[in-house]
Amino acid sequence: MYKLGLIGYPVGHSMSPWIHENLMKQQGVEGKYELIEIKPEEFDEKVKMLKTKELDGFNVTVPYKEKIIPYLDGLDQSARHLGAVNTVKLTNDGWMGYNTDGQGFVDSLRNRFPDIFHKGSQTLLLGSGGAARGIYEALMRSEITKIDVANRTTTRAEELIQDISAGISSQPLTLNQAESTLENYGLIVQTTTVGMSPGHDQMIMSLDHLTKGTVVSDIVYRPMKTKFLSEADKREARLHFGHEMLLQQAVYAFKIWTDTEPQAVPLLKEFEQKLK
Ligand code: ATR
Repeated sequence: MYKLGLIGYPVGHSMSPWIHENLMKQQGVEGKYELIEIKPEEFDEKVKMLKTKELDGFNVTVPYKEKIIPYLDGLDQSARHLGAVNTVKLTNDGWMGYNTDGQGFVDSLRNRFPDIFHKGSQTLLLGSGGAARGIYEALMRSEITKIDVANRTTTRAEELIQDISAGISSQPLTLNQAESTLENYGLIVQTTTVGMSPGHDQMIMSLDHLTKGTVVSDIVYRPMKTKFLSEADKREARLHFGHEMLLQQAVYAFKIWTDTEPQAVPLLKEFEQKLK
């Protein structure tokens, strides 16, 4: 009987219980996944109480992905590199922290578009927040060797590259520079909140320079098809959706907790219905 959950604030609209209950069914595993809302002023006390509850594992969402780290007994490579944790597992050595966001993104992208994972592939990342950092780090560990980063605040793109980049080619760009050179990239990943509902009619930049066949990804999943993806579709890009990443990072966390081989694809259609 697995005892699992999610800590964050707020957590009410999370899709995680649905995903993990379905993964339990899929894998024939018994367990429970509960939402644990923790107010910021109660964080220390509540996290210490969690230690006594003997959860087998839990997810961590905003605003606690960094704040949880001092309470953990070890970190995996991604979590250490990023300074952020979204999955915790109780092991013989205590609470281990992982970050499955970036790898979830890369795995879901690889399932759909394996052809873009090669040395000559040029990637453009839009945004420089926590999500961009996770995706950059995981892409860097893939076959891809060139990742440029464009952000409204260009200094944040510079910092991201300085903090994380190792052994690959990366340029910080302004949004205008990126907009006028979109044809150079085989993969474009939109990681900002621009286009999220409400206000979902916005786009971070025009896609006038986008060429047919480019893989365009948006990590926003509400709405499922952002304006950015709709415009990319009109230009015959190949689309990768935010909910694919969301599902895959959860599958990856479930795999860490249960040592099973859960599959995202059989859940995808039903998940799309739930999000509508
Ligand atoms: P997260 O950790 O969830 O990724 P974040 O750190 O708040 O969130 O980052 C949000 C990203 O969206 C940033 O890249 C931010 O750009 P700045 O670094 O310039 O703030 C970007 N962003 C948010 N609103 C934006 C807007 N209206 N136009 C362009 N970029 C925007």
